[in-house]
Parts: sequence; C-alpha cells; structure tokens
Amino acid sequence: MSLFVIGSSNTDLVIYLDHIPKIGETIIGGESKVVFGGKGANQAVASKRAGAGVKFITQLGNDTFGENLKTYFINLDFEENYILTDKNNHSGIAHIFVSKKGENSIAVASGSNGTLTFEKIKPFLNEIAKASLVLIQFEIPLETILSIINFCDQKGVKILVNPAPAIKLPKAVLRKIWMITPNETELELLTGIPVTDEKSVLKAAKIILNQGVEHCIVTLGEKGSVWVNSKQSIRFKVPSQNAIDSTAAGDVFNGYLAYGITKGFSLNKALMLSHAAATISVTIKGAQTSIPELEKVQIFLKQHHISEEIIEI
Ligand code: RIB
Repeated sequence: MSLFVIGSSNTDLVIYLDHIPKIGETIIGGESKVVFGGKGANQAVASKRAGAGVKFITQLGNDTFGENLKTYFINLDFEENYILTDKNNHSGIAHIFVSKKGENSIAVASGSNGTLTFEKIKPFLNEIAKASLVLIQFEIPLETILSIINFCDQKGVKILVNPAPAIKLPKAVLRKIWMITPNETELELLTGIPVTDEKSVLKAAKIILNQGVEHCIVTLGEKGSVWVNSKQSIRFKVPSQNAIDSTAAGDVFNGYLAYGITKGFSLNKALMLSHAAATISVTIKGAQTSIPELEKVQIFLKQHHISEEIIEI
C-alpha cells in the first residue's frame, strides 16, 4: 500500500532557552542546534522510520541548506525525482525557540516551500492517483493544498490532512477530506468554536464531521487525543513524560498514523503507535532527530499504558 506525503522541508535553527523571549526582550540562550525539519519532511521521515513505503514530494531552494537536505533525503532512500528545486528561491528556514519546559515558538521563512505549485506536482498525478493514502500539511501554498484535495477526491484517493499551521479552509473542501488531525487551536480556526475543554472539542469535531469528514482526531499534546467519527468518540490518554522539546511531536503522530493506515492496521492500533511515537519524541531534542524507530515505539507500548476510552456512542 503506497503512501504519498506532499509538503515542506525546512532547516531548523533552534535555540534552547530558559523561556521564550517576549516582544522587545533579548535573552542569552544555551545550546543551539541546526536540524532537519519542516512539517512535510518530519511526517515523511516519521512514516519511513516506522517502515512505510513512502514517496515524498517537496521543493528545496538553491542554497547549501537545499543541497544538504537533498543529500540527506537521498541517503534516507527517498526517490530523487520527487525532490524538486526552485532555482530562484532560498530553502525553507525555521527559527525555533524551545523553553526549559519543552514548549516552543516557531517562525518559518517558507522560501521554496511557498512556490511548490500544483503545476509542479502535475507530472506525478498518475502515481498519486494509485496511492492508498495521501498525507498533507499546510506549509505549502493554499492553492496547491486545495488542488491536491480536489484531485484526491476525484480519483477516490483517501487523504489525511494535518491542518498545521492553522488556516481556515473553505467549507466545501471539508467533505472531500477523509481524515483530519487538528490540534485545539486549529480546530477552533476551522470551526469558529472556542475550544477550551472536552465538551467543546466534541462539539467542534462534530461540526467537522457534519461537513463530510469521516474521521476527526483532535490532538491534545500531553493530554493525548480525542478521535471522533460517526459511530463513536474515543479518548486516548498517554503516560506523562519529562518533555524537553515538543517540536515535531504532531508530525511524528501524523507520520506514524499514516504508516499504520497504509499497513492496513485498525485505526485503534494505528493510533496506539502514533501516540507512543509522539510521546517518545518529546523526550528528545529537535525535529527529525526526535523521531523514534518502530522497534523503540513497540518497546514503549509494552512498557507503558495508553488508555483508550469510549466517551460517546
Ligand atoms: O512541526 C515542527 C516543524 O514546524 C519544524 O520542524 C519547523 O521546520 C516547522 O515547519
């Protein structure tokens, strides 16, 4: 079963600090790191590290960051023909601050991610039409995102949408999406409903479902997630960890989820894996540096309990 991930690649310039600087504040930080990131790449690498046969379409810029990323992707065994280059642009860069509590703040200069048009993806449409799942995020142009969703809908290809970073989608688009994985902020923007507690999570998720999405999985960080579909709502709780860097935890979650789905696992099993992988990732610094191998995830699941409780039928 083949998986296509279409999305961004960044180089993350990370500084670990006592706290995230306020406006006008200068702080002397501690350690700094340069790591491979970008929501698309993080999710593609997570699926691959889990064991999925994943094809990753991305666009790099004309600079050393792009060259390094390309070499890295090829070494990871991603097919070279899907790795595009915009010769007139710089590669995506993210400046990330991580506080001692593991919280982060991220600013992205999109560069070549911002010029990944649907036109450039057209040569791959025949292959995408044969995929069992397409996974996208929102770090490429909205027009491209909407065209991919329309295309998958026309061809009957399941699409998993991680709506990050948050943007408002036209309502008519939602019915074309098979599964969506917003966090609380993204859910609030998609529905216009303030999301503050479990009741409002359920209320907002049902609005998404009423617009035609089959599965809405609301990720709640250290609190786990709530999975809502037309039959039931299930709450997943994860064991608490000593979080040192939450960067890319959502990406690890989505990458592992896509792996589980394309492997043909039940959604419950796929979600167990994705919760475990994301929980491990917050205990390790960086984006792609924090993505665990499948074996580590399986050991974690043997040693820890992730609870799954039906909260509504
Ligand atoms: O989700 C985390 C990612 O967001 C980082 O790797 C950064 O590149 C930004 O895209």
